[in-house]
Amino acid sequence: MCGINGAVGLKNISELLFEGIRNLEYRGYDSCGVALMNKTRLILKKDVGGVEDVYRKHNVLQLQSNIGIAHTRWATHGKVTQNNTHPFASNDGNFAVVHNGIISNFRPLRDQLQKEGFKFSSETDTEVLAHLLEKFYKSSRDIEKAFVKVLNLIEGTYAIAFISSHLPGQIFCARRESPLMLGIGDEIKFVGSDFSAFIDHTKNAVILDDGEYAILSRDTYVVKNLLSREEITKPITKIEWDSETSRKGGYPHYMLKEIYEQPQTISNALDLEASGLDEIVELFAKSKNSYLLGVGTTFYVAKYAKYVFSQIAQEFYPSISSDEFRVLTNLNKQSLVFSASQSGETFDTLSALKYAKSKGARTAAVVNVMGSSIARLVDKVVLQGSGPEICVISTKAAVSQMVILTVLAMKLALKKKAITRKTYNQHMRALQELPEIIQGILNERSGFIHRLAHKYSGTRNWLYLGRGVYYPIALEAALKMKEVAYVHAEGMPGGFLKHGTLAMIDDDVSSIVFVPPPEDKSLYEATLHSIEEIRARSGFVLGIHFTEQGKNGALYSEELILPKVPPLTAPLIQLVIGQLFAYFTATSLKRNIDKPRSLAKSVTVA
Ligand code: AGP
Repeated sequence: MCGINGAVGLKNISELLFEGIRNLEYRGYDSCGVALMNKTRLILKKDVGGVEDVYRKHNVLQLQSNIGIAHTRWATHGKVTQNNTHPFASNDGNFAVVHNGIISNFRPLRDQLQKEGFKFSSETDTEVLAHLLEKFYKSSRDIEKAFVKVLNLIEGTYAIAFISSHLPGQIFCARRESPLMLGIGDEIKFVGSDFSAFIDHTKNAVILDDGEYAILSRDTYVVKNLLSREEITKPITKIEWDSETSRKGGYPHYMLKEIYEQPQTISNALDLEASGLDEIVELFAKSKNSYLLGVGTTFYVAKYAKYVFSQIAQEFYPSISSDEFRVLTNLNKQSLVFSASQSGETFDTLSALKYAKSKGARTAAVVNVMGSSIARLVDKVVLQGSGPEICVISTKAAVSQMVILTVLAMKLALKKKAITRKTYNQHMRALQELPEIIQGILNERSGFIHRLAHKYSGTRNWLYLGRGVYYPIALEAALKMKEVAYVHAEGMPGGFLKHGTLAMIDDDVSSIVFVPPPEDKSLYEATLHSIEEIRARSGFVLGIHFTEQGKNGALYSEELILPKVPPLTAPLIQLVIGQLFAYFTATSLKRNIDKPRSLAKSVTVA
C-alpha cells in the first residue's frame, strides 16, 4: 500500500513531484524515494522517513529534471530500510521502477534472475520488475515490448510506473487491481495513485482500468490494451475537488478539520439526488437475500445499517466484515451485496464484491472517491460527496455513510409501507436538523470534551458500551481511540457485561457508556442496568447521555450531557463525541494524529 507519482513536462518537475508525493503520504509514509533523469542518466534518491525529511536530507529539490517518478511506501514485503525503498534500478542503471501491490510469483522470478547473474539489493517483490525490464529490453531493443512481456509474466496485483534512460522523455505505467490514473495537462503529463498527486496542476484525469497500460510524454499520452496492444480511447474525468478542499484550512490536524466538516458533509449526503438512491432501494426491494459489508470502520457502518434497516424497514440484512464474506455467504442471482468504502480501493471489500459478481449477485456501494475501483465495479454506486478525507482515520466519511444508509432504510420502509409518509417526513426532519445540532455541539462542547480527554488520558483500558444501535457506535468510537491514541478500547454490547467481562472491572478498566435518550425506553433502561452493574463493582463510568436533570453523580463518575434530540439521530451525535474524545486523548498523548502508526488510508493488499 503505497503512493505513486510521476511527471513528464517541459520544465524542471522535481518540485511538482515533491508536492504530489507529499499529498499521497496518507497512503504510506515509512520511506520514500524518487528517480529523475540527468540528461540521459538516471538518478535515484531514496531513504527511510517522511517525504519532507528525505527530500531535505538528499537535496532532491536541487536536482533538475523534466521527467521523474516518486514513491511513498508502507512496507508489505521486506522491512523498512533504505534498500527496500522504491524506486528500484536495474543492474545496468537504465530502468527505474516504482510499484504498488504484490507480485505474488516474485520468488521463482527472482530465483531465475539470480541464476542468470542479476544482483538483488532488496528483499522486495518489486525489484524483479527492474531486472526483467533490463533483460527483455536487451533481447528486443524495444521498451514497450519488454514492458508487455513483463506484465504478461507477473502475477498478483500492481500499479507500476517506470522511466528509462533509453527513452528519456517517456513514462510507462500499468495497473491490475491497484489504482492508477493519469493527469493530462498542457505540455505536462502525470501519473498518480489518485487525483491528489496532480490536482494542483490539472483537473483532467484518465483512470486506467485493469489490463491496460499507458505511455506518457510531455505532449501526448496513449492507453493500450495489454492483450491486443491496441490503443484505447479513454474518457477524460473532470476532477470536481479543488486543491484547497484538500488542505487543512487552519486546523491543527486533518482529523479535527474533518470532524468539524461533518455538518457540511451530512448536508451534502442529504442533498444527494433522490433518483440514485431510489435505484438502490429498488435493488434492496427486489433482492431475496441482501448483505451489508465493509471492513474496519465501514464494517461498523454496515453494522449500524443492519440495526437501522431492521428498525425502520423491518428487514434483516446481515452485516459482514468484507474479509469474512466468502466463507459465510451463499450467493445467487437474487442476492444483493451492498458495501461501504471511503476510499473505494480497499482490497477486502473489492475482492468480496468481485466474488459476489462472480456468483451473479447484484452489487451496490456507497463510496467517497469518484472513479475508484469499487465505484466502477458495482452495478449501482452512491457517491457520498464528503470531499477528500485526508486523515488516515475515517470520521466524516463514516458518519455520512450512516446518514445515507438511514435514508435508504427510510425509503425502503416507505416503499413497502413499513412506515407512513408522516413518519418518513418526521425522520427526514430529524436528519435535516442534524447538521445544526452537530455544529452546536462542536462549538459548545469541544472545550469540555478536550478537558475530559486530557484528564483521563492516562487511562490504559476503556470499555465502550452501547445497546441496540448504540452498539456499533460503541465499536466505532472504540476503534477511533485505538487508531489515533493507541489506547486499548473495546466496544461491546451492554448486555455482554454480565456474561464474563464484569470480572475485568477494577481500577485499571474504565467504561464509556453511550446512553440512549429516555424516550427510547427499553434501550434506555437496559443501558442503565449495565451502568449499575459496573458501579456496583466500583467501576469508573463516563456516561454520554441526554437526560437534562443535571448531574447524576450516583450513576456516573463523569458525565457529558447532550441536548434533547430525536432518537433517530442520537447515536450519530454520540459518535461525534466519541471522535472528539479519541482526538483529544491522542493530542494529550502527543500522537501522530493524521498518520498514526501501523495504518494506511486505503488498504489495497490482502
Ligand atoms: C478507519 O478509520 C480505518 N482507517 C479503517 O478501518 C478503514 O475504515 C478500512 O480500512 C476501510 O477503508 P475504506 O472505507 O476506504 O474501504
